[in-house]
Amino acid sequence: MNVEQIVAHARDVFAKAEDIASLENAKARFLGKTGELSTLLKTLGALDIAARKREGARMNVAKQQIEDLLRARRETLKRALMQRRLTAEAIDVTLPGRGIGPGALHPVMNSWERAENIFRGIGFDIADGPEIETEWTNFTALNSPENHPARSMQDTFYIDAHRATGERLLLRTHTSPMQIRYARAHRPPLRVLTAGRTYRVDSDATHAPMFHQVEGLWIDERLSFAELKGVYIHFLRQFFERDDVHIRFRPSYFPFTEPSAEIDMKFEQGRYAGRWLEVSGAGQVHPNVLHNMGLDPERYMGFAFGSGLERLTMLRYGIEDLRLFFEGDVRFLKQFA
Ligand code: PHE
Repeated sequence: MNVEQIVAHARDVFAKAEDIASLENAKARFLGKTGELSTLLKTLGALDIAARKREGARMNVAKQQIEDLLRARRETLKRALMQRRLTAEAIDVTLPGRGIGPGALHPVMNSWERAENIFRGIGFDIADGPEIETEWTNFTALNSPENHPARSMQDTFYIDAHRATGERLLLRTHTSPMQIRYARAHRPPLRVLTAGRTYRVDSDATHAPMFHQVEGLWIDERLSFAELKGVYIHFLRQFFERDDVHIRFRPSYFPFTEPSAEIDMKFEQGRYAGRWLEVSGAGQVHPNVLHNMGLDPERYMGFAFGSGLERLTMLRYGIEDLRLFFEGDVRFLKQFA
């Protein structure tokens, strides 16, 4: 092979190298110690001086050309590789983002806020009380006799007694202790709404060991059961956003009210349509309770009610099992967002 053929061969072989590694391998075939050019170089010795000079110069030119070809091809391959990577790793910055889903209130929290807003609208104060209560506030001050079944170990979570006072402590079984706390801290006329968690050893489709109540108390010099009915029906109409709520007041008993009633509401939707569900206890505040509030029962009177927030929420949406509220399943909760 003469120099021109070697250069042409190199151009051909380099062009066929598809990546840098095979190109570097091909380089040895032409410029290496045993490469085509070196082999030709060895034949120079057999030539006379003039021819050797001429051929030597041609070979140097050829070597230079091969090196240029190599460099050019290397550049081309590098650029192609970069181009391939840019295409493969391309990010379309014009695509819409994944976004952050907006959160929403839990349906029970939503009912809680709705209740507060409705009562705030008719002049009630909003108050908040402890979930760990004393036996006195939760039971005794509410006229619950020592041997009342509600105090038993079966439906109350007792915890260790208060270290300093030795008083028995428990997770409040209802929000009614807030009646005592609030009335002892404010002078009548007073109107207060308080909501929060309550605890009982209880669990089925309409009971959970932890549930929410909303409690109302109104104390003044003249307040009858008629006002209780009026206020409560107003609340239900606002809460359910309809005038034709079907409710009934059933005579009942609570140690802290006299007379007492349970308020039932009719399910309008779902499997239980037509069935009544108790939503609230209520009644006129018992004179002994007024006394424990530090008020004169001869002068003051009032009414109270305590409603289950889960129950109200079940009725509002036609939910049939209260335990769904506490499972945290987004598929369930999403429906009310
Ligand atoms: N505290 C009662 C309960 O949890 C409800 C109630 C509240 C009844 C206020 C009368 C007055 O069942």
